[in-house]
Amino acid sequence: MLRAFLPSLSRIHRPPRPFPSLSNMSSTPNTGPPASQDRSNLISFSSRLKEGRALVQDVWSIFNAANLPSDCINLGQGYMNFGPPQWVTEAAEEALKAVAPNHYSHPKGRIRLREAINNFYGPQFNRNLDVESEILVTSGANEGQYAVFTAFLEQGDEVIMFEPFFDQYLPSVTFNGGKPIYVPLHPPPESVKKPTSDDWTIDINELRRAITSRTKMIIVNTPHNPVGKVFRKEELEQIALLAEEFNLLVMADEVYDCLVFDGKEHVRIANLPGMWDRTVTVLSAGKAFAATGWRVGWLIGPKSIIQPTLAATTRIVFCTNSPLQEAAAAGLEQVKERKFFEKQREEYNERRAILTEAFDKLGLKYILPEGSYFVLLDVSKVKFPEDYPFPPSVVGRGRDFRAGWFIAMEIGVSSIPVSEFYCEEHATIGEAYARFAFCKDTDTLKRAAERLQKLKNYVE
Ligand SMILES: Cc1ncc(COP(=O)(O)O)c(C=O)c1O
Repeated sequence: MLRAFLPSLSRIHRPPRPFPSLSNMSSTPNTGPPASQDRSNLISFSSRLKEGRALVQDVWSIFNAANLPSDCINLGQGYMNFGPPQWVTEAAEEALKAVAPNHYSHPKGRIRLREAINNFYGPQFNRNLDVESEILVTSGANEGQYAVFTAFLEQGDEVIMFEPFFDQYLPSVTFNGGKPIYVPLHPPPESVKKPTSDDWTIDINELRRAITSRTKMIIVNTPHNPVGKVFRKEELEQIALLAEEFNLLVMADEVYDCLVFDGKEHVRIANLPGMWDRTVTVLSAGKAFAATGWRVGWLIGPKSIIQPTLAATTRIVFCTNSPLQEAAAAGLEQVKERKFFEKQREEYNERRAILTEAFDKLGLKYILPEGSYFVLLDVSKVKFPEDYPFPPSVVGRGRDFRAGWFIAMEIGVSSIPVSEFYCEEHATIGEAYARFAFCKDTDTLKRAAERLQKLKNYVE
C-alpha cells in the first residue's frame, strides 16, 4: 500500500527547484525604488548565490524528517543519533563553568587544543607541529575549508574535485571566486560481484587532462564521502606527482580518518615526499567525537598555508566557540589511554555489518566501504510505479531521487540520492546509488535492516 498521498504530478523534466522563499526574489541591479507597492522584494541579493547551487533546494531539505513519515528511520543524513562520549561532554560542562572558555579564544584556537592536536597528530605527520603556525582551529571542517578557499583563490582559479564530492565544496569554491572542475571516480564495472569502495578508481590521465594553467588546487577526500574509498598509497603518489608538476595546493579532507576498516591503511598525502609544503589536512571533532553540532575542526599544514588561512578565518568567524574547543582538547588528550578510536572503530564495524548483512539478505549489490560511515546501495534494480505520487522536489531529478523517496515512503528508511554528489553533466553516474549512513545506534540499524527486507517485493 502506498503510504503517501500527494497530488499527482506531471512527469516533465524540471531543473532543480530554488527555495520557495528566494525563488521570486531578484538579483538584478538596483534601479531605484520599485514602481509598485510590492515590498516583498525590495533588496536584490548577490548573484553569487545563484552559482554553487546555493539557491537550489538541496537534498538535505528534500529528504528531511519534516517531509517524510514521522516513523521513517533516518539513514539519510550523516549525523549520529547518539551523543559524544560522556567524558568529553563532562569536559564541555567543566569548560562552561569556568570564566575564560566562555569568552573569545585566540583566532588560532585555544592553546590547550592546539597542544592536544600536536601531541595526537604530530607523530602521525612524523613531526613536532608548531602550535603557533602549523595548526589552526576552525568552526568545523567546513569553515576551515572555506577559509582556505578565501585565502588562496583568485577569481577564476580552478579547483579540482573528484566526483562524487561532498556537496559543500561547490558553494565554498564558487563563493570565493573559484571554478570547480570535476574528475569522476569510476564505479566498479557490472562484472564485479561484491564491489568494495576500493573498486572505485581514478584515471590519472583524466586527472592530468583536467589540469589547466588556471588550476590552483585539488581536493582529495580520503576516506571518501559518499563512496567510503580509502585512497591507496599508489593513487595518492600519482596525485602528488601531478601536484608537484603543476604546483597545486592540495586540500586533504581527512575528516573520516578515524573510521577506516578491515585493516586498511589510511595514508596521509601530506606525508608523501615533498607534499607537506603544499598540503593542508582538514580534520573534524564532529566526526572524531560524534559531535557534529559542535562545529569544531582543525587544519594542519605548513606555515605558508596556515598563516593566510588564519588571516581569512579571523575575518570570517574571528574564533571558534571556546568551551567546545576545551572539550575537544580533553577528548584528544585521553583518546590514547582510553583506546577510544579503536573502540569507536569496532562499534562502527558492527554498525556497518548490520546494514551490509541486510543488503546481502536482500540480494542487492552495494559498495562495501573501507572507510567513513556510508554504504552505497545499488538501487537500479528497485522498481517503483512510474505514477507514484512523487513530490515536485523529486520529479525531474535523477532516478535515485525517486528510488530514495519511494524507499523512504514504502519501506520507512530514508537515504540520500547519490546523483546529488555529482555536477549536473555527470549526475547519471550516481543515479544507480542511494547512500545509507550507519552512524546510528545498533537498535536503529537493526530496525532499519528488518524493514529493508520488504524491499524484496520491489526488486526485479
Ligand atoms: C567529506 C567531508 N568533509 C567535511 C565535512 C564537514 O565536517 P564538519 O562537520 O566538521 O564541518 C563533512 C561532513 O559531513 C564531510 O563529509
